[in-house]
Amino acid sequence: MPLNIAIDGPSGAGKSTLAKRLAEDLKILYLDTGAMYRGIAYFVLDKGVDPADAEKVLPLLPDIEMTVSYDESSGVQQIVINGVNVTPHIREHRISFAASTVSKIPEVRLKLVELQRKIASERDCVLDGRDIGSYVLPNATRKIYLDAKPEVRAERRFKELSEKGALNGMSYEDVLSDVNKRDYQDMHRDFAPLVVADGAVVVDTSELNAEEVLKKIEEIVACK
Ligand code: DC
Repeated sequence: MPLNIAIDGPSGAGKSTLAKRLAEDLKILYLDTGAMYRGIAYFVLDKGVDPADAEKVLPLLPDIEMTVSYDESSGVQQIVINGVNVTPHIREHRISFAASTVSKIPEVRLKLVELQRKIASERDCVLDGRDIGSYVLPNATRKIYLDAKPEVRAERRFKELSEKGALNGMSYEDVLSDVNKRDYQDMHRDFAPLVVADGAVVVDTSELNAEEVLKKIEEIVACK
């Protein structure tokens, strides 16, 4: 059985930074499942379809062929849809909420879960997302739930967007409001919502820097 480490939690808790570093240290694959939902959201918006409109999203799904690959020199994960690399577009702020919205549609989730399970069954990997330990891989080798106070997560997100010059006039309060809206939507959907999975170790990163989080998680993974 491959080694599967599931890292779930709300946005801004530090999942991707941790998952990337952990995968590097363990020399295994990092699968960013949020990027897959972002890819679908980008595709749907690009077709002029509202991600909340399940009736219009559903007919698009059979035409979406997603592959996950890794850039040869940087190792960075790439999301390719129907042969087009959509990775450069999926980090835009507008895509974050659209991904959360489209991810409420069960058929969207099932399509991506199938691909996630396939990858996880073939390779040792660290996966981050919202439902990895609870739904995608309930028998994952280790399950971690990373959390932090909404204000801290919004501060991190605000800093990240401002460093990228991508704030587009948004204030810290706007970012905090978006974080809260996305948390609510991710935690209250009917199918595979964000929950603390059975057997998950909860780590609050509010007062920790990235190094401290990594150290703590490496101890958990090694069962020290
Ligand atoms: O991790 P992220 O911010 O890139 O994820 C974007 C959205 O995708 C998130 O708000 C909810 C959805 N998502 C999900 O429903 N399940 C996952 N395993 C990963 C992401």
